[in-house]
Amino acid sequence: MTEDDIRTQVAPHQHKLGGTIHALHQLMRVYGYIHPEHLPIVADVFNISVAEVRGIISFYEDFKTHPPAATTIRICQAEACQAVGSRELTKELETTYQTKLGRRGNDIELEAVYCLGLCATGPAVQVNDQLIAKASAEKLQVPG
Ligand code: FES
Repeated sequence: MTEDDIRTQVAPHQHKLGGTIHALHQLMRVYGYIHPEHLPIVADVFNISVAEVRGIISFYEDFKTHPPAATTIRICQAEACQAVGSRELTKELETTYQTKLGRRGNDIELEAVYCLGLCATGPAVQVNDQLIAKASAEKLQVPG
């Protein structure tokens, strides 16, 4: 990834409303995360400070600053899923994968999400791109 590569991804969003966020999403799509070397380039293209770019990245949970784990398990923590056991499922998965929600374990990352659109069939979980309704630790069977 060269500076020109990054500028090619970022520049088309320069004059859009909310362009910085669009550009950061584009970097996430292409590279899977936002590398520290991306920040000064984004700042330069949008004529803002690196601190402002960092602020945007830290505000939105979707922006990652580290390479993605092989498997990301997103567990719904919203009320409807909590009512049917998402907190208990979260604890079970934390034990199984020896990590904590919001932290990365051995090739597994557990993330909180607040509604996956499966409210009537919770607890809802997303494993990478796959949505799982009525999730349980047994149903997930993710290699750890
Ligand atoms: S509340 Fe969990 S999917 Fe909507």
